[in-house]
Amino acid sequence: MCGIVGYTGNKSAIDILLNGLTKLEYRGYDSSGVAVEINGQVEMYKAEGKLQNLKDVIEPVKTEVVRSTIGIGHIRWATHGAPTTINAHPHSCNCGRLVIVHNGIIENFKELKEELEAQGCVFKSQTDTETVAHLIAREFSKVKNLTEAVRIAARRIEGAYALCVIHQDVKDTIVATKRNAPLLVGIGENEYYVASDVPAIIDYTKKTVYLDDNQIVTLTPNSIKLINEYSVELPLKIETLPWEPVSLSKMGYKHYMLKEIHEQPGIIRNLLSGKIVGLDNPLNLSEVKIDKETLKHLNRVQIVACGTSLHAAMIGKYILEDFCGIAVDVEPSSEYIYRKTVTDENTLVIGVSQSGETADTITAIKQSKKKGSHILIVTNRPDSTMAREADSLISVCAGIEVSVAATKSYMAQLISFYMLAIYMAEIKNSTDKDLLIKLKKELIKLPEKTEEILSQENTVKLCARKYANAKNFVYIARGINNATALEGALKLKEISYINATGYPAGELKHGPIAMLDETLPVLSIMMKGKVYDKILSNSEEAKARNARMIALTNSTDEKLKDLFDDIIRVPDTDEYLSPILAIIPLQLLAYYIAEFLGKDVDQPRNLAKSVTVE
Ligand code: M6R
Repeated sequence: MCGIVGYTGNKSAIDILLNGLTKLEYRGYDSSGVAVEINGQVEMYKAEGKLQNLKDVIEPVKTEVVRSTIGIGHIRWATHGAPTTINAHPHSCNCGRLVIVHNGIIENFKELKEELEAQGCVFKSQTDTETVAHLIAREFSKVKNLTEAVRIAARRIEGAYALCVIHQDVKDTIVATKRNAPLLVGIGENEYYVASDVPAIIDYTKKTVYLDDNQIVTLTPNSIKLINEYSVELPLKIETLPWEPVSLSKMGYKHYMLKEIHEQPGIIRNLLSGKIVGLDNPLNLSEVKIDKETLKHLNRVQIVACGTSLHAAMIGKYILEDFCGIAVDVEPSSEYIYRKTVTDENTLVIGVSQSGETADTITAIKQSKKKGSHILIVTNRPDSTMAREADSLISVCAGIEVSVAATKSYMAQLISFYMLAIYMAEIKNSTDKDLLIKLKKELIKLPEKTEEILSQENTVKLCARKYANAKNFVYIARGINNATALEGALKLKEISYINATGYPAGELKHGPIAMLDETLPVLSIMMKGKVYDKILSNSEEAKARNARMIALTNSTDEKLKDLFDDIIRVPDTDEYLSPILAIIPLQLLAYYIAEFLGKDVDQPRNLAKSVTVE
């Protein structure tokens, strides 16, 4: 939520800032702004709405602005104060010489604001951030040292923040700090970058330093100094980013979402490579660091996650319970953190998160860590805050996901759960060996089967056109695919704004069936296996209420044509693995409906990719 970027060096700053903000647009897109130093003066440019509006504001003054070699920028997802130009960052102190950009929430801003107003500060915006600008400026007026002013002010702040600060009187210098929000520094030749996330800097450098909480970094074109909250200078831990800039481009696809859907076969292949070595050998998952004896005697597993990651967790629960005979609870992190959970040192707590920066999940993980649980993190970002909390880390290696709607990261989370469940079942000797061999054999075939689904995306596209004008959508499933129904519905909701709901098909008759009529499409996820006949009957019940019926199935039964108006077929696989294949047509259906309706697929309204506020 909110993205920040900064640059000090020998190049023109503005293009670097705007390019960085473009790459951070997935973090928020309701307003944006930059501050640059021109002729010794700090100038701010801001705009409400999409980043293009800021670019339009800057265009007429571009010849002036390009001369600046230092600046900071911000893209906002509003928390305090409406998404207006006045609330857009940067924010300045009263004299306008000090400006800041901020990602996070200042929890004690009301108290600080009262204190600062009593001292004569005049507030222009409704944001919590402006408080920090005044606070640092007040300290600067006393100590005349920007780093020191930031250090002292930060001690007064409660909440989460990543901050970048510049001051007109401290030439070419950016001071940045963070607590419970991500921030990294990029190192170039006589230049430094600072950003909330890798995409903002990867075009320029792969050398980075990730800031830890309460560290303060001071950057000039020729120097970098890192200190802790007590002013002790710290050595730099320089890391090399494992990503290439090209992996963050659309590669010819119209949207990132479509590109990311198409990346899934390769992701499955990569994840499985080196893990299944001979079907009779145990699956190799060295990422799990719990010793095997402890693992055999775990009391329970708790999985915490949000959104799409929560749906992957539900499938994780299903297979962990079936293969390992261990009780697994799945809970939205936002609920888990506000109740007394039964968690102890014999509980394995699994945090699942694409970004590794979801605030609720980070809090849930930290709470269970305090109770002595082993923390296993399943994330797409091994460089994230959550990954740093992990005792065991499964990095799902899907590559940076740009589209706000998660697709390839969900697939990678699913594959990771299958590997984990098989790994644990083999250690615990808790399931039939032949079943595990069969599943490993099938897993290896999945990249090809997912390719086959993608090669037939036109069928889904036609279906999308036909149903794009529906006002509501119902997805039904049973058993392991209940989570697939929820995830399919979430995809449709978030990018097309159509009201879509997923139900366990058996629940339909307990209420939702009242909604059905000839205007409502019902999509039945009907995978062959132990609940196939049951969902077939539930589909009959829906058909009898005149609903428009769509089947997503791996059955070749010709009789389905009598019951369903449209049939989307996927290749056959074991029922346990069917969620991996079933989700792809649902991702495509959501994509093509949203695209047909002309929605902003990669940046749906009101959403942000990384939800860093509780
Ligand atoms: O980064 P995380 O996986 O922790 O994010 C959780 C949710 O915010 C995320 O899955 C969200 O629901 C996506 N927009 C789904 O497409």
